[in-house]
Amino acid sequence: MMNYLYKEGKKEKPVLLLLHGTGGDENSLLALAEIIDPQASVLSVRGNILENGMPRFFRRLAEGVFDMEDLKFRTKELQEFLDEKAAQYDFDRNNIIAIGYSNGANIAANLLFEYENSLRGAILHHPMVPNREASLPNQKDVKVFIAAGVNDPICPQHEATDLQHYLVESGVDVTLEWENYGHQLTMNEVQKAKAWYENTF
Ligand code: MLT
Repeated sequence: MMNYLYKEGKKEKPVLLLLHGTGGDENSLLALAEIIDPQASVLSVRGNILENGMPRFFRRLAEGVFDMEDLKFRTKELQEFLDEKAAQYDFDRNNIIAIGYSNGANIAANLLFEYENSLRGAILHHPMVPNREASLPNQKDVKVFIAAGVNDPICPQHEATDLQHYLVESGVDVTLEWENYGHQLTMNEVQKAKAWYENTF
């Protein structure tokens, strides 16, 4: 069971899967979907974990130190949730594009680390490498846009470049954009993501 909201868009458009950062909820990224593709369907999910009252998608032991067992469990839960919602709302399970920020970007990345055919693409704002021990499935038709901050104290530069490396190795077509800021999600990176989305899908 996950809290979520679903908005039906045009049938031929992708379904945008919105995954918030720590402390957000299913409403946090709705404005992004509206910018990226106002005609797309939107499936926005609230993370099932609470950390001091703040929703997250998986537990962590400390900042940047993930509970790997919970990450695996929650990623499976999200994967099954996507299968279930595609059947319930009759959308194309193979046409989901995730938009995630921070903790939400990390679980989106982990869907790609764990499952073939989970996402068609992803826009990852300030992600980290979710699991450095993973061996990734083949992801050769998947497209990913990463936006990272050069001064991001939570997701340092090597997290973005290492994530790019893991994804490219598994066949993903990766575009990495740098912002001259920290961990915040900037309008400039959202506009770059929109341009990438329009060129790619
Ligand atoms: C995480 O825990 O997923 C990362 O540290 C980012 C965040 O704080 O949400």
